[in-house]
This record gives sequence, structure tokens and C-alpha cells, in this order.
Amino acid sequence: MMSSQSERTPLLSDRPPRPDAEPSNEDGDTSKTSPSPSGRRTTGLREIVLFVWALAATAGVVVLAVVLQHRSSTSQPAQPISPTDPVAGSPYSTTSPPVVKKKKRNLIFMVSDGMGPASLSLTRSFRQFVSGLPMDDTLTLDRHFWGSSRTRSTNSWVTDSAAGATAFSCGRKSYNGAIGMLPGHKPCGTVLEAAKRRGFHTGLVVTTDLTDATPACFASHVDYRMQMDEIALQEVGEGPLGRVVDLMLGGGRCHFLPNTTAGGCRADGVDVVRLATEKHGFAYKGDRKGFDELRRGKNVSLPLLGLFAATDIPFEVDRRHMSDVYPSLSEMAEAALTALDAATRDSDEGFFLMIEGSRIDHAAHFNDPAAHVREVLEYDKTFKLVLDFLEKSDTEGVLVATSDHETGGLATAWQAPNELPVYDWHPSVLARANASAEHCARLLLQHVSSYPAEPERALMDWINQELVIRRLGIPDALEMELSALATNPAAALVIFSKMISQRARVGWSTHGHSAVDVNVYSSGGPGTEKIRGNVENTDIGKFLAEYLDVDVDEITKELQGKLVAQQKEVPEKQISVEEQELRRLGGQVGVEWREKFGM
Ligand SMILES: *[C@@H]1O[C@H](CO)[C@@H](O)[C@H](O)[C@H]1NC(C)=O
Ligand SMILES: *[C@@H]1O[C@H](CO)[C@@H](O)[C@H](O)[C@H]1NC(C)=O
Ligand SMILES: *[C@@H]1O[C@H](CO)[C@@H](O)[C@H](O)[C@H]1NC(C)=O
Ligand SMILES: [Zn+2]
Repeated sequence: MMSSQSERTPLLSDRPPRPDAEPSNEDGDTSKTSPSPSGRRTTGLREIVLFVWALAATAGVVVLAVVLQHRSSTSQPAQPISPTDPVAGSPYSTTSPPVVKKKKRNLIFMVSDGMGPASLSLTRSFRQFVSGLPMDDTLTLDRHFWGSSRTRSTNSWVTDSAAGATAFSCGRKSYNGAIGMLPGHKPCGTVLEAAKRRGFHTGLVVTTDLTDATPACFASHVDYRMQMDEIALQEVGEGPLGRVVDLMLGGGRCHFLPNTTAGGCRADGVDVVRLATEKHGFAYKGDRKGFDELRRGKNVSLPLLGLFAATDIPFEVDRRHMSDVYPSLSEMAEAALTALDAATRDSDEGFFLMIEGSRIDHAAHFNDPAAHVREVLEYDKTFKLVLDFLEKSDTEGVLVATSDHETGGLATAWQAPNELPVYDWHPSVLARANASAEHCARLLLQHVSSYPAEPERALMDWINQELVIRRLGIPDALEMELSALATNPAAALVIFSKMISQRARVGWSTHGHSAVDVNVYSSGGPGTEKIRGNVENTDIGKFLAEYLDVDVDEITKELQGKLVAQQKEVPEKQISVEEQELRRLGGQVGVEWREKFGM
């Protein structure tokens, strides 16, 4: 996948002009697949229907394009950081007495992948609506607003999660796709690695694959994010620094299991779970029963590897109907905090924990506002849980939370084709949805494969009753919408999302990421004044290392010596992006299905 194609042409839309200061680009394309809805030459309701048809025709392409936005390349050297004014830290702290020695510290860093400012308005209003709260009611996040962050990468105005997370983990700008790597494919030391070296305990909690870009950037170093087989190995301790993570909870089990097992999606026959347990001493929990044995973090022996889904943990809107199968983000975060707190009770250093609301991004990629809003609510709940932990803890601690980028170009307003603008949107539509578009699309594909000969009319009726009315809460589906779903089930994810969004009057400008600045939130505390106001994403990364007083440059030097040698032994894998992503999509639909329905 090194550079074969040059720039990718957008599939459905006018080609956006190249930014004039676009850096040259040794590795090939940037992530410029930005599908947008096909042309809307429309008049009224009938035209919305035609639009749905157009979507149906192109949805396969859209889904592929969505995932292909994770392209990468490199070239430009990292930009210098402009320091913000060093004001003394505002006191968040507990009542511990002043000490001469550097105080023991905990740091919790939360990432809301793909959450932009509009997500907050959407979620705040949704909560007021469903809970009958007053109009000045706010989210916990709102009350801890700290500033905003700029997100561009070295090779694109629109970052991906890999370059975004590398900015946080290394404090350096890099190219889209980079996992703990700088332009020129030189590894950079991460705050997690430097913290581990200094005696801190470390943890990663996510709701997607643990090998996905955000967690990977803290504990592994590879050229491109699709190298998940290698990322899994490095995360359990096979990397250049040995084991650096003490606790990992999330999804992505299939990347840790060999190609010889039913639940595995690795290309090779390596049993990474076995390596983790036998060679690196991990305790392993592979399902909800195993999670419950952790007793909310009170029965944990570190290091701990918890893989609770084959790939992604389902969206919260679906997961709450399957809480006997999957833990939630807040449950995993609680277990992690309790376990790390107990493990560091008698040590000189505290812990560094990264918690990611990973699938806020996925719901936005799918343009599914009903799933998106519940992901943000669960993230807000987790943020509060961390604040409560800090308040009770005897150890000084700080919470910093931000997003790597916005996803979807979300707008809490949408003007229907050939209609005047309406100054409103409808949270009630999102409230009625009881399942995600993704889940409904899976149920449809499952149904179609079980009843391949079902007449179209019967299938349309089933779709309407079981999926559209019962699960999405849409009582007024149009004939043409149902027909589009019945004749093109592969496009269902996009069609279902559109049906909800249009009725709720929620707008989206892309199935990819956008360059919008994202919000920063914090508990406050020593040094956090440095990330007040509008900062660069790398300033957040710099702050993390400064707060823990750890030296990432030292780790960078060590890595750059070691990894050159390693790369000679292991030649660059030639992975086709398309193949990787199709495999991943197949895995999402296939593996978890088998898990849930015994297929
Ligand atoms: C599994 O991986 C091994 C290498 O470890 C490879 O030789 C074999 O062909 C793979 N099998 C399948 C079915 O992919
Ligand atoms: C505590 O953890 C151990 C080791 O994983 C497990 O065997 C045991 O069942 C757990 N205890 C409870 C009460 O779940
Ligand atoms: C929500 O979805 C479940 C299936 O997951 C269904 O049994 C239940 O009736 C639905 N509830 C409402 C209020 O629609
Ligand atoms: Zn994304």
C-alpha cells in the first residue's frame, strides 16, 4: 500500500480544490475520498425518494469510500510548537499537604473520536428533550469546557485518527495513517511509554478494536494504521520496548487470534493472546463473564488484557439491549480506574490512563444521529465518572479530554431540497430510534440470507414492521424507501441513516472527517492553563508529558536506534487498503454475527 495510487478522486462529488499550500507528498495520496450525496436536482418529497434511490445505487461505493479515508502519507517535517503563556495552574486539587518531593500524580486522558462542537449541541438538546430537563440544563462536558484544538496533519488539512492520536501521544505532527511515527517513517516515543519507563502504571480503554489507530498510537509504532496484526503484537510486549501497557480493555479480539481459529482475523498463525499470557504475564478475559470476574476492577491482577468483542463493541444504542454480552465504556473505565488506583496505592508514581469513546466517530461516518447521540451521552457519563474518581482520590490527578477531529460535518439543522429553511430540528425522531442503522442493516442482511427467495413485497413488509417501525421508530416510511431497502440490502446502512437524519432534520456534509476545530475539556489542575484557549493538538500531547514530567525524547532516541534494525528483518508488508478494509467490514458483519446468533 505504499504509494501505488496517486491522488484518489472523490467518488460522488465535485473534486474539492487542492489546498494551495499542500505539502508535497512522497508517499502518494492523502485522504481525499470524501463522498458526498449525489446531486439533488429535486422537487419535494418525491425527490427525497429519488435521492434515497441514488444513495442506494452508490452506497456500496460510499461505504468503501468511508473506510478508505484512512489513507496516509508523509513528507513535511513536524511543525514547531508555539508555547502558550505559562500561567500558574488553577487549583483543582484535593486537600493533600504540600510536599517537597514531586507529588505523585495520575493522568486520565479521554478521546472522543470524531466528536465536534455540533455533537454537543445535538446531545444536550436530545437529553433535555428525553428527560424533560430545563433549557439551561447542560452536559457534564459543557461545565468543563476548556478551549479548542486545531487538528490538521502534516500532509492534509483534514486529519485522520492516526495522525491525530500521534499528536497526542508523541506531541508531534505527522502524516495521516501514522502510528507513533513521524514524517520520514521515524518512530516517536509516546507519553505512555515514557510514563511506563518512569514507573507509572499505564492503561488503554476503548470501544473499538484495541489495534485501532487511537490506542495503537500510544503503545506501538508502525508506518500505517492497517498493520493491525503487527500492532497487536507490539501492544502485548513484542515491540522494541517490550511490554509498556499494564491494562487494556476493549474490542478487536480477532486481531489477537491466529488464522487457524474461527474467531481470528490475523493473516498469520500467531496466537497473540497466548503470547500475552504465557510470555508477557497478562491475565486474559475474553468475554462478558470474564469482565464480570474483574468485579468492577476490585479483582484484577495486572497486566490485564480484556477483549470483549471480536471487532467493535456495539453502539451504545444497541449494546444496552445486549448488556449481558458486552460491557459499556463507563463500565470498562470504572474497572480500569479502580484497578490502576489499587495497583499504584503503594508506589511512588501514579498512573496514565487513556479512555476513548471510539465509536462516536463510527456513528458519524455512517451519518446515524440516533447512534451518535447515545455514544456522546455514554462518553459524558464516563467523563463524570472520571471526575468523581479524581475528587475522591488522595492522589493528585488531572483529566484532559478532547477529540482527534470532527466527523461527518454534522449540523443541527437541515434544509430539505426545494424547501425553505426551518428553524428547528427534531430530537423526538432520535428518541424513538431504539437501534442503530448498523444493527438494522445487519439484521436485514441476515434475514435476506435466511430467506433468499422471499418476494419483494413480503420483504418490504418485514423491513417496515421489524426494522423501520419497531427498531428505528419511523412510522411513515415511504414505499420507495422500503423498495430501495428490499432491492439493495447492501445499501441499508446508508438508507436507514438518511431516513432518520432527514426526518430529524439533522444535516451531514460528509461520510468522512472534517477540519473543524474540536473542543478541549478538563478538570483543571496544575499546568492545565497551558492548554486554555485555542491550541494545536500537539500542545495537548506536550501537556500530557509535561504533567507527568516524563521524557518522550529519550524514548524517541532509543526507538529510532532499535526500529531501524527491526525493519531490516521484517520487510514492509504490502497490504492493499481495500483488502484490509473490506476484510474489516466483512469481519464486523460476519464475526460478531456468528457470536451473537451462533452462525
Ligand atoms: C495462516 O498463517 C500462516 C503463517 O503463519 C500461513 O502459512 C497460512 O497460509 C495461513 N493460513 C491461512 C488459511 O490463511
Ligand atoms: C477473581 O479473579 C480470578 C482470576 O481471574 C477468578 O478466578 C475469580 O473467579 C474472580 N473472583 C470473582 C468473585 O469473580
Ligand atoms: C427496543 O428494541 C427491542 C429489541 O432490541 C425490542 O424488543 C423493544 O420492543 C424495543 N422497544 C421499543 C420501545 O421500541
Ligand atoms: Zn474516523
